[in-house]
Amino acid sequence: MSWLNEEPQLRKALAAATGLIAGTVLALTGPASPAAHAASSTLGAAAADSGRYFGTAVPAGKLGNSTYSTILDREFNMITPENEMKWDTIEPSRGNFNFGPADQIVNHAIAHGQRMRGHTTVWYQQLPSWVSSIRDANTLRSVMNNHITTEMNHYKGKIYAWDVVNEAFADNGSGQQRSSVFHDVLGNGFIEEAFRTARAADPAAKLCYNDYNIENWTDAKTQGVYNMVKDFKARGVPIDCVGFQSHFGAGGPPASFQTTLSNFAALGVDVQITELDIAQASSTAYGNTVRACMNVARCTGITVWGIRDSDSWRSGDNPLLFDNNGNKKPAYDASLSALGGGGTGNPGGGIVSGQVYSLSDVAAGRVLDVPGGQTANGTTVQIWDANGTAANQQWRASQNSDGSYTLTNIASGRVLDEPGGQTGNGTRLTIWDANGGANQHWRASQNSDGSYTLINVASGRALEIPSGQTGNGAPVQIWDSNGGANQHWNFK
Ligand code: G3I
Repeated sequence: MSWLNEEPQLRKALAAATGLIAGTVLALTGPASPAAHAASSTLGAAAADSGRYFGTAVPAGKLGNSTYSTILDREFNMITPENEMKWDTIEPSRGNFNFGPADQIVNHAIAHGQRMRGHTTVWYQQLPSWVSSIRDANTLRSVMNNHITTEMNHYKGKIYAWDVVNEAFADNGSGQQRSSVFHDVLGNGFIEEAFRTARAADPAAKLCYNDYNIENWTDAKTQGVYNMVKDFKARGVPIDCVGFQSHFGAGGPPASFQTTLSNFAALGVDVQITELDIAQASSTAYGNTVRACMNVARCTGITVWGIRDSDSWRSGDNPLLFDNNGNKKPAYDASLSALGGGGTGNPGGGIVSGQVYSLSDVAAGRVLDVPGGQTANGTTVQIWDANGTAANQQWRASQNSDGSYTLTNIASGRVLDEPGGQTGNGTRLTIWDANGGANQHWRASQNSDGSYTLINVASGRALEIPSGQTGNGAPVQIWDSNGGANQHWNFK
């Protein structure tokens, strides 16, 4: 297969300081607000802060490598066996079950408080020839159901979610199932039969359909899987989740990825990113992928397909979060930040909802400004010398239910807005009536200098002034987050 396709330390312990006066600078002490707990410093812990997990694929053979297992047990709270639960290992000949390698992984997970994804009971690859050569439907049905039942019974109570059926849809643009022994001998109904058998075997496990190249909403393959899940839900066929493998090229996820996740979730299933790796592992691509999941309530977790680049099935692409020596790569920081972790403080946690601030760009030393007297919808914002507490330079930060902030300009009563549908690098920002749109929601991550990076939820891009343009009147736009001082904003 292919993958084709604050001012410093912004008053963190912000108190129950009721009666704070808008725009004042306060030295705050006292009990931390719920939003102001310390930022989590590992992928698993940061994901857990929003009720999600962060997992990786693990081959049993690497558990004994201490560099490997140290990272595994520090960063990850969900494990998928990379190959050990596949048919060729589990049932190499009819009725002979070999659980040893997968048991090693499950035992490791139990000992380290990690959960397990089961991968996978029915897949046309890594399938022994004694199965793929069966031509009789009754025999194959019995063999498939016995395989599912025996494997799931063995791990009953130890698996969070099973990939019951893996990669059953074709890549040919038909939106139909691919040819496989299961499809060809049993017909389209084999998937339904597998899910019904799985539910009976372990009623407590979540049952997922897992596939690749179903991340772009308009693709025929995506639509084919969507229609199957819709039909299953309508007819009461047991299915709880859809896994999006997410083996991406260097550009990362398609622009519609979050839409795809939302649309599937709206059918009444959880969605999960199950095998993430991205050619060259750019920070932007990883950040965008993680944010797409964070922005969908029913996206319950993310699994990367390996730990170090050298562990990857596509190691030539350097597609993972750790280098060959086990060092964190920039994409690690971007992922951690997108999960709401990292930095020296709590991302967004130092900003008090309801408080009024001026936002000063670190590169320019000038503040976010709506030109004096211009208060209409569509007015473009700029930077200008801070002018005391002038209302056109004052912004109320109100936290939204997704953890992001809406920034309301005090003079105009309108909010900082990325014009609807305009998500490209260089898009200029305006003020507009608040409407609750993702284009008006900004995620705040605190940087090591105490400033914040503000990421627009719709575009996934950072609030910035164009590099080198620091004078009065310089425009304010969005761009891929790159850690530059022009993308760092002090809340004062
Ligand atoms: O263990 C044998 C070894 O003894 C033998 O000498 C060697 C010869 O090639 O093969 C070794 O087995 C390999 C196995 O990985 C373990 O390393 C297989 O050849 C190789 O085909 C197998 O590749 C796995 C692949 O699935 C099989 O299709 C990859 O590790 C695994 O990362 C990959 O994972 C899949 C997911 O399950 C489903 N989605 C796509 C994803 C990437 O292809």
